[in-house]
Amino acid sequence: MTGAGAGAPSVVACPNGPLIVRGDVEIRDERGELLDPHRRTVALCRCGASAIRPFCDGSHKLTGFRTVRPEREPAVVYDELTRLEPGPRGRR
Ligand code: FES
Repeated sequence: MTGAGAGAPSVVACPNGPLIVRGDVEIRDERGELLDPHRRTVALCRCGASAIRPFCDGSHKLTGFRTVRPEREPAVVYDELTRLEPGPRGRR
């Protein structure tokens, strides 16, 4: 293992998915109750769709949750006469 040691906590943000938390951490609910204290690796939901929050249940795949923005379309495009016209985001 790399880093500060085997028990050092780490958090990895998965693209389009949960936060993977490893190491010695306490995860508590909104009342301060300790959740699943024996796990050393947990996946925390950040899409809001999980039925077992704060843990991930894989629902992010069904909802199409994205943490990475798709390529942005230009706000304006130029035609061959270099006139400004509304881009795809500017059309109604
Ligand atoms: S991140 Fe997986 S269900 Fe929300």
